[in-house]
Amino acid sequence: MTTESRSHIRWFRNTAPYINAHRGKTFVLMLGGEAARDPNFPNIIHDIALLNSLGIRLVILHGTRPQIAERLAAAGVEDRYHNGVRVTGADAMVHVKDAAGALRVQIEALLSMGLPNSPMQGSRMRVCSGNFITAQPAGIVDGVDYHFTGRVRRVDADAINTHLEGGSIVLLSPLGYSPTGEVFNLSLEDIAVHASAAIGADKLLLFGAEAGISDDDGALIRQCAVGEVKDLAVGDAGQAALLATARRACQAGVPRCQIISYRDDCALLEELFTHDGSGTLVANDSYEQSRTASIDDIGGILELIEPLEQSGVLLKRSRELLETEIRQFRLLERDGRIIACAALYPFHDEACGELACIVSHPDYRGANRGQRLLEELEQEARRQGLTAVFVLTTQTAHWFIEQGFEERSRDDLPGERQALYNLQRNSKVFFKTL
Ligand SMILES: CC(C)(COP(=O)(O)OP(=O)(O)OC[C@H]1O[C@@H](n2cnc3c(N)ncnc32)[C@H](O)[C@@H]1OP(=O)(O)O)[C@@H](O)C(=O)NCCC(=O)NCCS
Repeated sequence: MTTESRSHIRWFRNTAPYINAHRGKTFVLMLGGEAARDPNFPNIIHDIALLNSLGIRLVILHGTRPQIAERLAAAGVEDRYHNGVRVTGADAMVHVKDAAGALRVQIEALLSMGLPNSPMQGSRMRVCSGNFITAQPAGIVDGVDYHFTGRVRRVDADAINTHLEGGSIVLLSPLGYSPTGEVFNLSLEDIAVHASAAIGADKLLLFGAEAGISDDDGALIRQCAVGEVKDLAVGDAGQAALLATARRACQAGVPRCQIISYRDDCALLEELFTHDGSGTLVANDSYEQSRTASIDDIGGILELIEPLEQSGVLLKRSRELLETEIRQFRLLERDGRIIACAALYPFHDEACGELACIVSHPDYRGANRGQRLLEELEQEARRQGLTAVFVLTTQTAHWFIEQGFEERSRDDLPGERQALYNLQRNSKVFFKTL
């Protein structure tokens, strides 16, 4: 077998935990009209087929903005906006329905493909669309009548869930129907937020032109808590809009929103089946903020770690030592209380770092908070250019093994750390390559 085949097989094996984690979960995919006309769109459809065959319940929501603009221009109908929202007169509405209908049919056709020797072979997907969204008119704002531009009034979550239960993919267009029998032009983002929350989606995947959200220096932000979103300065209007939608969805109760690229043919699978993902994750942990510790947190950290120092699980740290090392600590705070902490001590010469003092409060165990902090510190270690992390432990060996650590000899520790090794504690040494 070639080395390449072996590495494919190894990669496939490593996806098992993700496949297990995603099975039976509900994902909403928001694909704007730009995504639908991108050359990569057929690849996204192929990946959707794969997700469907892995038992993921899928709702696809497509947009039509550029398609509508094109139709209006061709027909010589004025494309009017007020406060960034399209004003849909009766003459424009004809083209809105046209654009939505045409794209819906095109997506249904793509999802029906099944040619031999294509990724769709044998996929046999069932697609349902219908009157799942009830709309109301946006009305008159600042004296401007929005006519057939509407707002989401209700989502028929039961109907959507019944179709998902039956194994179908639900396809939503940015249109809604009113009890008066009219059709309204809705914003894609509004439907994404309302529908994901109403059906209890586990994830909302938002497709944008870029890989995700980037910071001032253009570096990709891998993840952020919903509470941190408002502090991010995002220059690009498209990225800012996606981030705002992710934030709204999280606030409406969707646990995770992930912003990824529709141009990159690997982005969707990389996001779902690799540790680091490809884009930006916005997580709904509005009650729990993760942050670097400051001097004011020392009392809270001591309260958390003292019982474990007394039982010998952790090495004793004095208040003075904590004060000098406080910036190495990361913590989780809930309602003003520190409920978990962990520290990273880099050894730059050896390109590795020690993880220490990983503790979650006994009242808050059972939700993998320790794991969350561990992952964040591993990410920080990577950011600092470290290639491995290690821990010394006496009673928590199995937990670290389950987090991907391997036992090594004490001699593998950086020299400086070996000199400090406490023989009496006889701790085991575990390493994890990043
Ligand atoms: C290790 C620790 C930080 C994990 O915190 P957490 O992510 O909140 O952990 P949870 O309570 O959600 O437990 C996650 C899993 O790890 C297991 N686990 C916890 N401590 C363990 C240990 N010492 N050995 C083996 N498994 C352990 C739990 O049983 C649970 O498994 P399950 O999901 O199969 O039931 C937490 O258990 C802790 O604070 N322990 C005491 C301090 C400690 O030992 N720190 C390490 C110092 S080197």
